[in-house]
Formats: sequence, structure tokens, C-alpha cells
Amino acid sequence: MKRIFSGVQPTGGIHLGNYIGALQRFVKLQEENEALYCIVNLHAMTMPHDPAKLREKTLELAALYLAIGLDPQKATLFVQSDVPAHSELAWMLQCTTYMGETNRMTQFKEKSEGKDSVSVGLFTYPVLMAADVLLYQADAVPVGEDQKQHMELTRDLALRFNQRFGDTFKVPEPWIEKVGARIMGLDNPTKKMSKSAKTEGNSIALLDDPKTIRKKIMRAVTDSENVVRFDAENKPGVSNLLTIYSLLAEKSIDDLERAYSGQGYGQLKKDLAEVVVEAVMPIQERYTDIRQSGEVENVLTDGAERAQAIAEQTLCDAKEKMGIVSFRR
Ligand code: AQP
Repeated sequence: MKRIFSGVQPTGGIHLGNYIGALQRFVKLQEENEALYCIVNLHAMTMPHDPAKLREKTLELAALYLAIGLDPQKATLFVQSDVPAHSELAWMLQCTTYMGETNRMTQFKEKSEGKDSVSVGLFTYPVLMAADVLLYQADAVPVGEDQKQHMELTRDLALRFNQRFGDTFKVPEPWIEKVGARIMGLDNPTKKMSKSAKTEGNSIALLDDPKTIRKKIMRAVTDSENVVRFDAENKPGVSNLLTIYSLLAEKSIDDLERAYSGQGYGQLKKDLAEVVVEAVMPIQERYTDIRQSGEVENVLTDGAERAQAIAEQTLCDAKEKMGIVSFRR
């Protein structure tokens, strides 16, 4: 049994990219692994944020975790800030990270581009992520492709720490699927679907109503060829729709290409909209029940205790190795 760790930020609307690239896989992986899934609320503060919204989004994401099928009996579900070891280890790792390393991060470049004032937190975000993962001695981290570079840094930091101070951290593997690790924006299939996209038609949120879902899919950008064929490079729009269809309906892309041969994009979009609506409706129904039940708070309290017990052990070990003494009773 492997130990896996992953996190999602409680920002914006959790969308189909987050679901296909990460959350849907979390559910499968909890069956055969010791899974820890975190709501990374400290990461959500790296961009300007509204405190009331952060509070609400944290509870929303926790309820979504349960609604998609994460089972607190199988997986540990918790909020990052409930385990202070994340911030402590992040500081310790920052002191072993080079400016050049964080400077290279493409996510930082993209998110800071064109902004006058950018927080130091956004710059050191990948180091906090490394602390998140390393605290739990995770074997593997299921993430979307956008996190590949951050995972490489996490591994580098673990190796460097182990080499300088002695064996402390397991060096984790990123688990990035070949298909679905980069779901593209519906209105701009050359860029990933993103919570922070400025346009409404970019993403489908798991909590979007059926009318909105249908509208967004029918307006998705394709190409003028009108032939349903997978070709990510030359036909990114229709290839993205086929990927979403394939992963939600569990049908192969080949089968879909055959089924839609000669039918054009209109029919594909209509059918895909129904596939998406069918996938999200049961999630939305469970979500409403869970929010009303008050279950979320208990699950997170329990999860925080379980996570804290593991994190504390690693933190103590890392502190001792770094020469940080404690006189606390
Ligand atoms: N488009 C995507 N396709 C596949 N996987 C994706 N993920 C994100 N976008 C896609 C994966 O979802 C998990 C949780 O993401 P997150 O909330 O931690 O952060 P994010 O990458 O910031 O999400 P967004 O939507 O891209 O937000 P912004 O706009 O702020 O950048 C991660 O495993 C991520 O890889």
C-alpha cells in the first residue's frame, strides 16, 4: 500500500479540469492507497483574497470532496492550516531553496505577469507545496500536468535536505496521467482550463446548473473542419471535448471518433453536454445534502488530528536534523 498526498486550493469554482486531472482520480486511489487529501487554504492566500470567501470556499471544497465520493473512513481529509507543521517546514525548506529555483517557476511567471505588486507568498508557493508533500512521507502525488514543475522542485528539495542533513524525507513521485492531465479552456483550447480565467466560458464548474453547462459546451471553440477527429496539435478544441467525453463516459477516443464519424460538432457537443450534466448532477445533489448535514466540520476535525500525528513526527525529525533545539515542555 502506498501513501499518497494531494491538495486542492479552495479558490474559485472547482471545475472539470480539477475534477478530471485530480479529484476523480482521488476517489479511485483511496481504494488501494493510504490517501491524504488536503484543502490547501494557505496557498489560496498567495493572491489577494477575501477572508469571508476563503472561509466559504474552504467549506464548499470539503463538501465537494465528500460529494464526489471521498470517504473519510478511507482517506484523511483535512485543512492545511489545521496542521501548523506545514508553515514551519515551509520556512525550513525556504532556507534551503535557491532564489533561482523559485524564479524559474512558470506558474509564478504567469500569475505575476503584468501585476505591479505580487506577494512574496506567491513566489515561495512551490516551497510550501514541497512542505505539504514531504511532511507526510508520501510515495506519490496525483496531480495535473501544471504541477509537474512544482513536483520536480519538491523532489530536488527532498534530495538536497537528505544529503545535507541526513535521510529525512521520502522522495515522492508525481502521478500525472497521460490523458486528462491538462484539460483545456473551452473558449481557448490552447490554454488550460483555469479557475482564474477572466472569461465565463472558459470552464465548467462542478456546481454549474445544467442550462449553464449546455450553453458553455455548445459555445466551445472548435475549428472549421467539422470532422470529429482527435488531433491535439491541429484540432485542440475538438480534441479537448473528446478527452472530456472519453474520461467522463468511460469510452475510448477511438470509439467516439467512430460513433461521430460524419456527424459534425453540433451532435458531439449536444451529447457531451448531457454526459457532463449526468456526471455532475449526482455530485450536486449529494453536495446540497452534505452542506445541510453539518457533517463537514466533524470530518475535518477528525482528519486534522490524523494528519497532525504524521506531520508532527516528520517535523520533529527535520528540526532535530537541522539543529533546531526546543526547550518547550
Ligand atoms: N486544466 C486542468 N486540467 C487538469 N488538471 C488540472 N488541475 C488544475 N487545472 C487543471 C489540477 O487540479 C488540482 C487542483 O488544482 P488547484 O486548485 O490546486 O490549483 P490550480 O492549478 O491553481 O487550479 P486552476 O484552475 O488552474 O487555478 P488557477 O487559475 O488559479 O491557476 C491540481 O492537481 C492541478 O494540477
